[in-house]
Amino acid sequence: MYKDLAGKAAIVTGASKGIGAEIAHRFGREGINVIVNYHSDKSGAQRVVEDIIAYGSKAIAVQGDMSQEASAQALVDAAIHHFGRLDIFVNNAGMEMPAPSHEMTLENWQRVIDVNLTGYFLGSRAALKYFVDNGIKGNLINLSSVHEQIPWPTFAHYAASKGGIKLLNQTLALEYAPSGIRVNAIGPGAINTPINKEKMNDPEKKAALEKIIPMGYAAEPCVVANAAAWLASEQSSYVTGITLFVDGGMTLYPAFMNGNG
Ligand code: BGC
Repeated sequence: MYKDLAGKAAIVTGASKGIGAEIAHRFGREGINVIVNYHSDKSGAQRVVEDIIAYGSKAIAVQGDMSQEASAQALVDAAIHHFGRLDIFVNNAGMEMPAPSHEMTLENWQRVIDVNLTGYFLGSRAALKYFVDNGIKGNLINLSSVHEQIPWPTFAHYAASKGGIKLLNQTLALEYAPSGIRVNAIGPGAINTPINKEKMNDPEKKAALEKIIPMGYAAEPCVVANAAAWLASEQSSYVTGITLFVDGGMTLYPAFMNGNG
C-alpha cells in the first residue's frame, strides 16, 4: 500500500479484463477513484466497478474505443466530472491479431496500430493537456510489452506498435520532465490473462512458452499491477522514461540460459 495514492483519481483504459482490470482493482484498493474504460465488455467493466466500490473507492465504467479521437477526452472529462481531478492515466487497451506478414491485410495492420499505438498517443495527449493546463504533476503509465524489444513473427503490427510505444514513452518523458510529469512504461512478459488463455490451456503450447521464461512460469496479473502502483506512487518519484520489464527474465535471451553460445 502506498499512502500518497489515497484520494487520487485515475483512468485505466481497457480495464474490463486482464491486466487493465487488475490495475483498476489495485488502484481501488489503494484508495484511488477509477474511471474503468471498456470497449465491448460492459458487464466485465461493471464487475470491476462494483469491486472497487466495495473497497471503499469510487468507480465509473465508461465505454470508448481508444483508437477514436473523442474517446480519451471523454474519459478525462468523466474523471473531472465525477472525481473533480485526474492524477494518473494508464494506457492499457490493446489487441493482438496474428497473421503471417506476407498475408496480413492492411485492415488488420491498421486496426492494431490504431488501437495499440495511436490510441496511446491520443490517451497521452488528453491526459497531458489536462496536466499542463492545470499545473498538475501527473503520472502517465503506458502498458508496453517485452515485444517492444523482442521481435515476434506473425505479430509484426503488434511488435511495431510496442516498439513505437517505447519511443513515444521516452519522448513524452523527456518533453514533460521539466513540468514534473512522469511518464513510464511497463513491459509485461507472459501473463495469465484472457489474451493468453488458449496457449495456457494447451499443454504443448504452455510448455513451449514456459521454456522461454527463465523463471519458468507465466505470472498472474497482480505482478503487473504491483509495478503500476509503484510507478503511480511517490516511491518512484525520481523515475521517468523507463520501461519496467515484468517478465520473469524473458528479455534476458533465454536461449543462452545454459551457457549456450
Ligand atoms: C503478449 C502475450 C505474450 C507475451 C510474451 C505479450 O505482449 O500480449 O500474448 O504471451 O507478450 O510473448
